[in-house]
Amino acid sequence: MITLALSKGRIFDETLPLLRAAGIEVPDDPEKTRKLILATNQPEVRVVLVRATDVPTYVQYGGADLGITGLDTLIEHGMEWGGAAGSTGLYQPLDLQIAKCRVSVAVREGYDYAAAVRQGARLRVATKYVAIAREFFAAKGVHVDLIKLYGSMELAPLTGLADAIVDLVSTGNTLKANHLVEVERIMDISSRLVVNQAALKLKREPMRKIIDAFGKALGQP
Ligand code: PRP
Repeated sequence: MITLALSKGRIFDETLPLLRAAGIEVPDDPEKTRKLILATNQPEVRVVLVRATDVPTYVQYGGADLGITGLDTLIEHGMEWGGAAGSTGLYQPLDLQIAKCRVSVAVREGYDYAAAVRQGARLRVATKYVAIAREFFAAKGVHVDLIKLYGSMELAPLTGLADAIVDLVSTGNTLKANHLVEVERIMDISSRLVVNQAALKLKREPMRKIIDAFGKALGQP
């Protein structure tokens, strides 16, 4: 059995065409079913629905053989910026070029971020992406106090909780609606296929078939 860990929403929807290219159909709609294990048209392939942030954990510890999640989530889990496995042992064979967005620094309209940085001010930064923010500001030589949040980051500068946030930006509409402006682009994000290395050794042929079909659908050799 091959188990693929996916999260509901954009990643699931954008993965379906890739699965189809590998000859895999998922009949259940994750938005309608309450099932967490979804069978596919291939008796030896199943999908498990997990939170995006749990995908690396499932794959790392073998609860799933393969998983798809954003680069942001993988870095927060311990993968290195360049994509090396780091301490996670996760092998990342493909950039699926889906669920694209970016991680950026944003501040309240009218806040002079450049001046604050120039003057060497100690910035309070609220974020869900603590590892990314820590590494980014350390490389810039900016002193920051990081405040970990789990959502609605946009509120932090508006309420005085923080000077800046580090968050995902896609269209920029959420920032605009909350009178925030993007002042630095930290990194581009897309979803990645990650693989449990032990599983790849044990189930090499069926897993390679899926990885190669994804690669071919993406136009990669
Ligand atoms: C992300 C992010 C922003 C929003 C940005 O949230 O945290 O709030 O998307 O998108 P936009 O630039 O197109 O407006 P997401 O919907 O992923 O959910 P989250 O709040 O749980 O992170």
